[in-house]
Amino acid sequence: MKIVETVAEVREQVKAWRQEGLSVGLVPTMGYLHEGHQSLIDRAVAENDRVVVSVFVNPMQFGVGEDLESYPRDMDRDAALCEKAGADLIFHPEPSEMYPQDFSSFVDMSTLTGGLCGKTRPIHFRGVCTVVSKLFNIVTPDRAYFGQKDAQQLAVIRHMVHDLSYGIEIVGCPIIREEDGLAKSSRNTYLNPQERQAALILSQSLAEGKKRLETGEKNADKIRQAIVDQIETEPLAKIDYVEVVDWNNLEPVQTIQGPVLVAIAVYIGKTRLIDNVIQQ
Ligand code: PAF
Repeated sequence: MKIVETVAEVREQVKAWRQEGLSVGLVPTMGYLHEGHQSLIDRAVAENDRVVVSVFVNPMQFGVGEDLESYPRDMDRDAALCEKAGADLIFHPEPSEMYPQDFSSFVDMSTLTGGLCGKTRPIHFRGVCTVVSKLFNIVTPDRAYFGQKDAQQLAVIRHMVHDLSYGIEIVGCPIIREEDGLAKSSRNTYLNPQERQAALILSQSLAEGKKRLETGEKNADKIRQAIVDQIETEPLAKIDYVEVVDWNNLEPVQTIQGPVLVAIAVYIGKTRLIDNVIQQ
């Protein structure tokens, strides 16, 4: 497995693979990889001849006062995980390689990005779309892999690929959880032991919502309220949002008819965690 830092080196490698007629999968990440990322890499390895993992903490998707500086980083550990999982290339650029001084073009989406995480992170999806768009242009993969934990991101990327006619298949992969239910996230490392315990309220409250969905509850507000009530039993938790939205357009629903996304963002202490369930 190779680790490269420049766009030119990625292009050269991908060109050589293409000349051999090989397919290419891309797993975009911000590093500090865990079993969630590993499941994406495993799937990419199973479905493509060659796999590129990008490791880049993208400054453009962090707002003022967010955790850009403290975001965990460990390239040696990431490289070992990628190698073991069977990736072929890591693209680990410096910010200046991705955003040279004269950088001035952005990918902005006028639907899907205003609600859920977009409400409190107004510039986040512009940063995500811009960097993912660049990665698509650099790697030109056949397939790209994203986790369902960032469900809004998955929907946004799918829409971007459709709008901008990228001939890339977007593969959404299930949420990977700790044994006790907490969704795997690089940000879980911020939690102290007491907060780690409190963070279980996310998956537990969603399980309550899921149970109601599965037993045929059609009133979205009742499902929402059941989740809110349960989160509010945890003193360390502060709700950012609890939403029941149409999985096709991310618009809030009153009555559940088609596929829905039940998405939550909750602060545990200072750490903002997200989780969700999708009912097709
Ligand atoms: O999901 C992430 O880790 C990031 O948002 C992504 C897709 C790698 C873009 O920086």
